[in-house]
Amino acid sequence: MTYARITGIGSYLPEKVLTNKDLEKMMDTSDEWIRERTGIKRRHIAADDETTSSLGLIAARHAMEMADVTAGDLDMIIVATCTPDKVIPGTACIIQRHLGAKRCPAIDINAACSGFIYGLDQANRYLVTGGGRRALVIGAETLSRITDWHDRTTAVLFGDGAGAAVLEVSDEPGILSTHIHANGEFEDLLQTRNGVSLGFDASAGLGAFIEMNGNAVFKRAVATFDSMARETVADLDGHLEDIDWFIPHQANMRIILAAAKKLGMSMDRVIATVDEHANTSAASIPLAMDLAVRDGRIKRGDTLLIGAFGAGFTWGSAMLEF
Ligand SMILES: CC(C)(COP(=O)(O)OP(=O)(O)OC[C@H]1O[C@@H](n2cnc3c(N)ncnc32)[C@H](O)[C@@H]1OP(=O)(O)O)[C@@H](O)C(=O)NCCC(=O)NCCS
Repeated sequence: MTYARITGIGSYLPEKVLTNKDLEKMMDTSDEWIRERTGIKRRHIAADDETTSSLGLIAARHAMEMADVTAGDLDMIIVATCTPDKVIPGTACIIQRHLGAKRCPAIDINAACSGFIYGLDQANRYLVTGGGRRALVIGAETLSRITDWHDRTTAVLFGDGAGAAVLEVSDEPGILSTHIHANGEFEDLLQTRNGVSLGFDASAGLGAFIEMNGNAVFKRAVATFDSMARETVADLDGHLEDIDWFIPHQANMRIILAAAKKLGMSMDRVIATVDEHANTSAASIPLAMDLAVRDGRIKRGDTLLIGAFGAGFTWGSAMLEF
């Protein structure tokens, strides 16, 4: 049987760190409130000269180094992001140029926080059906650029970063299953009110900033992780003990705890980075995976379950043998 297997993983976080204490000086909030309600302690913020493509490029190079592949080996580049450098060209094309991956197809996917899983799903289908032998899937975000730094209900939640994975066709097990979903009915609960086609109204203080009904999104996210758990259990014929590691999207520690509980996974089998990275949207899962691979927790042959939920709403999960 032919699989698409992750042969390299990499990530990058901007150097600048913004702690909860720093935020206390910028708005009416407290380290205690942020930690209690979200589990977040700090987040990384892109420097003025950094962009989503520059973050993604570094993560991609780390992943390619681990996989021992060169730019010329790539048959597809997918960048999952909701904060592209520009409207056109796509961020994937910008990264393709910097890598020197000449003529390799390159596309962006915007599935918000579920973007990396959407990207894995697409790359997996592309590779196992003979579209090519190697794909690069990047999740990269500069959410700080669409954060309203005057809105304490959202500003404390987000961070910048990038993660990337190289997938290669293999006879050895790799991606075992993927499930992706969307429901556009809840647009108002998590959105940027303005945008490209709708236009920007910066003069009225209405830029393309993230606006969220945190409470409603929270409830929806927890309920969705429940349905995700059911799908996964069905895939595994009930053998949840086969999963070595659960890597959820990193939005809020309380959502992660609830998701782990639904799955019956003890927290020592869950990778959580939300305390250090905050919510980096499409970058959060590959960032967490890279950290746990490089610190030795995740080993070759381990079975991973990844799951995400985000604006759209979009959600998805993937099970894979690393
Ligand atoms: C945003 C979130 C942390 C808020 O936590 P919550 O427990 O729901 O808190 P509430 O929104 O009910 O707010 C409680 C109080 O804290 C206040 N508050 C909100 N943000 C605050 C902040 N940064 N600092 C201090 N107080 C704050 C609110 O104004 C409210 O005050 P009130 O009771 O006087 O009205 C939580 O809803 C959440 O994590 N939602 C999902 C976020 C998410 O995952 N989004 C992305 C999906 S990919």
